[in-house]
Amino acid sequence: MTITVRLLLFSSLFLLPVSVFAQTNGSIAVGASLTATAGNSSPWFSPSGDFAFGFLPLGNNDLFLLSIWYAKIPDRTIVWYANRDNKPALAPKGSTVNLANSGLELTSPQGEELWKSETIVGVVANGVMNNTGNFVLQDGKSGNIWETFNNPTDTMLPGQKIERSGKLSSRYSETDYSKGRFQLLLQEDGKLVLSTINLPTEFANEPYYATDTTSGTVAGSEGKELVFNVSGYLYVLRDNGGKYNLAGEEVVSERDNYIRATLNFDGIFAQYYHPKNFTGNVSWTLLWSEPDDICRRITEDSGFGICGYNSICKLNADNRPTCQCPRGFSLLDPKEPFGSCKPDFIQGCEEDELSTTKDPYDVIVMTNIDWPISDYAEFRPFTAEKCNESCFQDCLCAVAVFRNETCWKKKLPLSNGRVDVSLNSKAFFKVRKDNTTLQFSPMSNPDDKKKKKSSNTLIPVESVILATSIFVSFMLSGAVCLGFFFVFRKKQVRSIKNILDSNLYSFSYRELQEATNGFTEELGRGAFGVVYKGTIQIGSGIQVAVKKLNCVIQDGEKEFKTELRVIGKTHHKNLVCLVGYCDEGQHRLLVYEFLSNGTLAGFLFADTKPSWTQRIEIACGVAKGLLYLHEECSTQVIHCDIKPQNILLDDYYTARISDFGLAKLLMLNQSHTHTAIRGTKGYVAPEWFRNMPITAKVDVYSFGVVLLEIICCRRSVDVENSCEERAILTDWVYDCYREGILDVVLDYEVEALDDRKKLVMIGIWCIQEDPSLRPTMRKVVQMLEGVVEVHVPPCPSPYTRTG
Ligand SMILES: *[C@@H]1O[C@H](CO)[C@@H](O)[C@H](O)[C@H]1NC(C)=O
Ligand SMILES: *[C@@H]1O[C@H](CO)[C@@H](O)[C@H](O)[C@H]1NC(C)=O
Ligand SMILES: *[C@@H]1O[C@H](CO)[C@@H](O)[C@H](O)[C@H]1NC(C)=O
Ligand SMILES: *[C@@H]1O[C@H](CO)[C@@H](O)[C@H](O)[C@H]1NC(C)=O
Ligand SMILES: *[C@@H]1O[C@H](CO)[C@@H](O)[C@H](O)[C@H]1NC(C)=O
Ligand SMILES: *[C@@H]1O[C@H](CO)[C@@H](O)[C@H](O)[C@H]1NC(C)=O
Ligand SMILES: *[C@@H]1O[C@H](CO)[C@@H](O)[C@H](O)[C@H]1NC(C)=O
Ligand SMILES: *[C@@H]1O[C@H](CO)[C@@H](O)[C@H](O)[C@H]1NC(C)=O
Repeated sequence: MTITVRLLLFSSLFLLPVSVFAQTNGSIAVGASLTATAGNSSPWFSPSGDFAFGFLPLGNNDLFLLSIWYAKIPDRTIVWYANRDNKPALAPKGSTVNLANSGLELTSPQGEELWKSETIVGVVANGVMNNTGNFVLQDGKSGNIWETFNNPTDTMLPGQKIERSGKLSSRYSETDYSKGRFQLLLQEDGKLVLSTINLPTEFANEPYYATDTTSGTVAGSEGKELVFNVSGYLYVLRDNGGKYNLAGEEVVSERDNYIRATLNFDGIFAQYYHPKNFTGNVSWTLLWSEPDDICRRITEDSGFGICGYNSICKLNADNRPTCQCPRGFSLLDPKEPFGSCKPDFIQGCEEDELSTTKDPYDVIVMTNIDWPISDYAEFRPFTAEKCNESCFQDCLCAVAVFRNETCWKKKLPLSNGRVDVSLNSKAFFKVRKDNTTLQFSPMSNPDDKKKKKSSNTLIPVESVILATSIFVSFMLSGAVCLGFFFVFRKKQVRSIKNILDSNLYSFSYRELQEATNGFTEELGRGAFGVVYKGTIQIGSGIQVAVKKLNCVIQDGEKEFKTELRVIGKTHHKNLVCLVGYCDEGQHRLLVYEFLSNGTLAGFLFADTKPSWTQRIEIACGVAKGLLYLHEECSTQVIHCDIKPQNILLDDYYTARISDFGLAKLLMLNQSHTHTAIRGTKGYVAPEWFRNMPITAKVDVYSFGVVLLEIICCRRSVDVENSCEERAILTDWVYDCYREGILDVVLDYEVEALDDRKKLVMIGIWCIQEDPSLRPTMRKVVQMLEGVVEVHVPPCPSPYTRTG
């Protein structure tokens, strides 16, 4: 779980020993004080020793947070902290907190007051660090005059209540404890809402989550308070005594677990528990969280959205959001990944007019992305082409979104951007050419650079800062790889030497060893070698997949480089981008961009079937990638090993073919006869076994098999789970097709049955044993797109089958 990982990371920031707890009754006398120093100042513990109040060192030993934390667990999870209206909330080393008659006072080493407990009525007699995690100031007579439970930050604990107009507010980021962009509020009308606020004010945008606890039709049903009762139940208590449970029926024992509810910095309100009695590195477990789909919880006046302006929100598998800038945009503040994105170019009617190029913009197509509330014009009925054209011609238009025969034109700044696979939409995004060319291609003017550096072999790049590297996986035509090393800035970060003229970077073996942490995290294994995950330390680090090649048969460095040049020059949205390589002694490694959503195999053969539209998109993507390799590259590339394990999915589930070019790299003379069979059982074309010439048609065959797998969501060979007649998918599908019982193969998914039948026919055309009968990939793409008609296919294997 990501949460676990985060917390583990987090705990390493704290340097105090786990517990230096001496028996106490929790009472602190007026006049007592604590000083922020590493190590030698014991905090104030609760009698049970579960909670501590004091200074926690954060990050390094020079900054401290005045806070309350769980003292017995190494995570040092903070449940309350002071000074969050200042940025930073941290106090420098040597700061002190005093318990005075007037309350708590946090003072800097220079004697400046940083924070004090709010104005209180009465005179403090003593403080108590309670076993519940509540730090209380008492007047010695009538009771509590100030408590942290009544002045909460981002966390609630069992025993704590929030009255109407009471709030929690998130911290700014994972490590920045100043006030953040999200708040939880029990409104005067009784609704409990989550909303973004417009800092530095607390003006709230429309909620992205709200409970149904207003008076409505039943008098007295409005929420009175948010209660976290001591048994660990969190509910809104209504005026009439009714309860609105936030967690449903789920509950864990309060006796055996620490329980807390926290409004996270990314806007998710969640309840967690942690066993009290544990051994080893146990961490917090999520019990529930709200809302369940934060990126899509958008209403009209939600302000910037979950992410900043122009950014795009995407839900991770753990239900937590991440934010990314579109291409051509970068973070306004690189230290704030959830913040706004700024365009790296200037768009405007005057600028467009002055532009030296006739069409100053490139159009990037993004699927299933929308900014729902930045429209200024809407057209219906319309076509996608007209939508693109209309935005392209319009100097006010930044992006046009097309869906269901409707076209929306949108202007900057875009807000509430999110990924939503249910949309089935296309966004046509305008990015200025002059600027992008400048930034995208490190090689745009190699001659100039060579002259300046007067060096004939090395081109030291001053620095490479990668903005939004992940985002690259996102897109689109052409310049994908060029975009990988994205923005060049003055600050020296790291120099990369020796760039081939195809934008590939040459890494030393040591660099890759460091990047992969000594080749530890294995992503996968294939015929060509093992793939490891790594991070290259440029900017904030780029994730890459490093492939260690088994044995390179191509002899000589020159041939290796020649082949790499071919691979390096391929740029297509359906191909995985090669970033660089290492060719050092025995070591031959390839460095690819890392794609987050794994392989098509994992996607297709999972427990739940992906949607039909998504599957068709993937099939078309693979076909287009292959068409490009076969016909549109400067040198034809035959893949030789097309299979679902070699097709990766990026953040947006766009199919990306990997391992192309390797067959050639690892084998001479592939286009004639051969000795070893390349490829994988179940996917290889029959000509491999028949001493026939190997042509691009071998890929068409493998594509046909993969297409049938995509249609049926099952593996091409499945002996274990199928009876004999169904074990070989290609045979079974053809039999069912011939007998007119395709719905059996399709698992009785009748939606778009005609569509499916057409795809099955295309698949059968591709798996013809006779290579000359198979269509070219161009024809396949045309058939998939419905541009040409699909005829009735013949029996794919007339030689080996009867019938
Ligand atoms: C707690 O202990 C302190 C001394 O450590 C003592 O002065 C104080 O009276 C005690 N308070 C209570 C409530 O027992
Ligand atoms: C902690 O708070 C509870 C509930 O308010 C109270 O019963 C208990 O006495 C307090 N403990 C101490 C040590 O003050
Ligand atoms: C806490 O709330 C739950 C659910 O409403 C209830 O069953 C339980 O008795 C409450 N516990 C206490 C100590 O009030
Ligand atoms: C803590 O766990 C250990 C092992 O599970 C058990 O032996 C021990 O009795 C537990 N202690 C408490 C206080 O529950
Ligand atoms: C606990 O930590 C060790 C070493 O840091 C690690 O190998 C192990 O996977 C961790 N266990 C859990 C459950 O996180
Ligand atoms: C983009 O181009 C405009 C003019 O075409 C220029 O003023 C601006 O500085 C450029 N932006 C960047 C980031 O290079
Ligand atoms: C969008 O329109 C522009 C201008 O006509 C054209 O160059 C571009 O190829 C179009 N893009 C798509 C995806 O239709
Ligand atoms: C498409 O738009 C039409 C016209 O507004 C509407 O009736 C229909 O429900 C929409 N279909 C989808 C799938 O959104």
